[in-house]
Amino acid sequence: MILGGDRGVVPPGQTEPMTLGEAVTPETQPISQPQRIDRYVGQYAERAVDMVASEIRALFAVAARPEIVSLAGGSPYVAALPLDVVGDMIGQLIASQGATALQYCTAQGDARLRERICDVMALEQVRAHPDEVVVTVGSQQALDLMARIFIDPGDVVLVEAPSYVGALGAFAAYQADVVHVAMDDDGLIPEALEEAIRRAAAAGRRAKFLYTVPNFHNPAGVTLAAGRRHRILDICRRAGLLVVEDNPYGLLGFDGEPMRALRADDTEGVVYLGTFSKTFAAGVRVGWAVAPTAIREKLILAAESAVLCHSSFSQLTVREYLDTQPWYEQIKDFRELYRERRDATLSALSRMMPPGCRWTRPTGGFYVWLRLPDGINAKAMLPRAISSRVAYVPGTGFYADGSGAQYARLCYSFPAPDRIGEGIRRLASVIETEVQLRDDFGPAH
Ligand SMILES: Cc1ncc(COP(=O)(O)O)c(C=O)c1O
Repeated sequence: MILGGDRGVVPPGQTEPMTLGEAVTPETQPISQPQRIDRYVGQYAERAVDMVASEIRALFAVAARPEIVSLAGGSPYVAALPLDVVGDMIGQLIASQGATALQYCTAQGDARLRERICDVMALEQVRAHPDEVVVTVGSQQALDLMARIFIDPGDVVLVEAPSYVGALGAFAAYQADVVHVAMDDDGLIPEALEEAIRRAAAAGRRAKFLYTVPNFHNPAGVTLAAGRRHRILDICRRAGLLVVEDNPYGLLGFDGEPMRALRADDTEGVVYLGTFSKTFAAGVRVGWAVAPTAIREKLILAAESAVLCHSSFSQLTVREYLDTQPWYEQIKDFRELYRERRDATLSALSRMMPPGCRWTRPTGGFYVWLRLPDGINAKAMLPRAISSRVAYVPGTGFYADGSGAQYARLCYSFPAPDRIGEGIRRLASVIETEVQLRDDFGPAH
């Protein structure tokens, strides 16, 4: 909608700021009001015009209120870390290595940290040399760099249906044409992948890469079955399709050993993305990419132009943590904590959800993907859920085309088990009311 004159444009898809009935008094009114009128509106690059806040961002402020049980966020429970010990470690790091930790470093990242990253990946049978690793600002930056070096406007990228909202945002920023590929309880469906590749080829197009989260998927909570992994790799190899394997949750499985990474079976066709956000601390913002040589060189150049180099302080903090602390024991503690929260979630769902709801049963990670009864729209329902003091992320955030309205992502990593139970009780009651309204007035009430 173009308002004309100097009033600017409300970008397509942008909604009003979410106030949800919060009273604005002179005390609470921010000093600097958000700019509603954009005098530079005609000057942005085309790729910036469609940039809109993700569903999750709009939610964060609301969901952080203490009275709300937030099943929205996706934040790891970092309070479970021994914070005093980590604090002492950081103090000693600065005292003993401050001149390095507070200095610039190379764009590829600290060499000793890259060695330790190879040790971490060995748990998933990835055999990599430190030279193959590029340190990034969380795996989110790796997604941005991959998009930056591969995507021209209109290029096809294949992703799961649904897919991680941050990846969709990164690909959209480079104007990718995102094509979703179906999943089931065993993850990405090989036949659906073949079909998507065939369709792209029939339209005279070739996908630039397949982006996949094989383990404890965000948002779907499912894991790519061991028996499908080779098939997916074979299909991609035959089609000359690069695989981007995004694996933040691989070490957070609740049963048995970590799954074998896709990268373990194909070093030339897979770019592996990892992060310390979920196994140590999201706030240090340290992730990494392991890529075939030529891609790695481009990633380093792209990282250099984006940030010169990453935070030496963060990198040395992670390195020190891996060198001096029982990090694998800590991961086991995290697993137990998240397992308990997963159990609380599944038990509350099966006790309380009304008929017509279905949900996935994750064996690791943070997320349950909830399907609502027919005719119930998770996005439309959200304000009523917030009024009932529970938050989730509507499924629409996880599809490039805005579908997924019948789904909600529930994240159990942050609230304590009793709060999870209470949140699901509130959510069940909101859904029951919606079903009643649907029955009384029809689906579009
Ligand atoms: C699938 C997936 N990829 C990437 C990220 C980004 O993680 P970070 O940038 O903190 O490493 C997340 C975070 O939630 C995620 O779930």
